[in-house]
Amino acid sequence: MREYRIAAIPGDGIGKEVVAAGIEVLSALQKRDGGFRLAIERFPWGSDYFRAHGVLMPADGVAALRKFDAIFFGAVGDPKIPDHVTLWGLRLPICQGLDQYANVRPARLLPGIKGPLGGVGSADLDWVIVRENSEGEYAGNGGRVHRGLPEEVATETAVFTRAGVERIMRFAFALAARRPRRKLTVVTKSNAQRHGMVMWDEIAAEVAREFPAVAWDKELVDAMTTRMVLKPKSIDVVVATNLHADILSDLAAALAGSLGIAPTANLNPERKFPSMFEPIHGSAFDIMGKGIANPIATFWTASLMLEHLGEGDAAQRLMRAIERVTAEPAFHTPDLGGKATTAEVTKAVAAALAADNA
Ligand code: NAI
Ligand code: MG
Repeated sequence: MREYRIAAIPGDGIGKEVVAAGIEVLSALQKRDGGFRLAIERFPWGSDYFRAHGVLMPADGVAALRKFDAIFFGAVGDPKIPDHVTLWGLRLPICQGLDQYANVRPARLLPGIKGPLGGVGSADLDWVIVRENSEGEYAGNGGRVHRGLPEEVATETAVFTRAGVERIMRFAFALAARRPRRKLTVVTKSNAQRHGMVMWDEIAAEVAREFPAVAWDKELVDAMTTRMVLKPKSIDVVVATNLHADILSDLAAALAGSLGIAPTANLNPERKFPSMFEPIHGSAFDIMGKGIANPIATFWTASLMLEHLGEGDAAQRLMRAIERVTAEPAFHTPDLGGKATTAEVTKAVAAALAADNA
């Protein structure tokens, strides 16, 4: 029996609800598959932990995660605590501390889900957004002086290193080379930001020479938003900075039907450290505690985690079950225009797994 150690960090708000649903579905999948076992250890880190201990996770938290094979994360964010405190207290230290520099975000119209774009079906919208996840605009480099005085100054300096840009570019080209259409769009803002973004473009051209089979093009980030809406079929893999891809991937999620179905893998591709799998969405203050969070993003995320662990058959089995369930409007949660609850969707996916004969 193959065994994997998983650290589950449900976090806050609907993160707790969807991770619980995810663990339920993973347990149904283990039963159906029989070849592997997930030893899941839960960590109560997040805003409740902060209220009790004054920190979102213990000082040795990131070190404690290193012995796991993967991390299964919900979301962090609390209506009563500033967002920069929660994000920088838990999610960002994990991503940066474990050098999860490649944030991979597939967006695809799943069966039964109608996106907001007229005439666009599942063959027209099948993207992977690759987000640089270790530096750029979220490097945390900056400060504030003269706080509260009229002279107050704040700086937020983006950091682009050759090593950081090269590795994400190589990752994105290699990913594009493995996909049937072999296309990559490099997104920057190199007209207005003439230092880091120009270096980004230059490195793209250099790395492109290693991947002659990949057809690549460049797009400025503002133009990219219109291209995603008006010419979705022209897009395959996209690579962009931490901030740009953060924004583009929420747009991609909405165009693919809902933020509630969009998954993410925070990868350390060299496997020196565990990678982290989470839905793209946050803790969703407006719906937390109501039992109506869409768990599909978390299930899809779980499938990405299994793929990363080398359990490709189980990952595909889970994806088949997800697609069987999304195909039924009766199992659509309110974000998709339906009336289903988190529990109903979870049960339906578990049942689809049990019934999978492949
Ligand atoms: P959000 O993703 O939590 O919610 C945005 C909108 O999408 C809300 O209307 C919400 O109800 C809806 N939504 C999100 N996930 C859904 C799901 N699974 N099912 C149905 N509807 C869903 O983003 P928002 O409101 O900007 O942030 C709320 C908190 O979450 C903040 O504290 C923010 O910092 C944090 N956050 C944390 C993230 C993380 O831990 N990875 C990512 C994004 C936000
Ligand atoms: Mg985001």
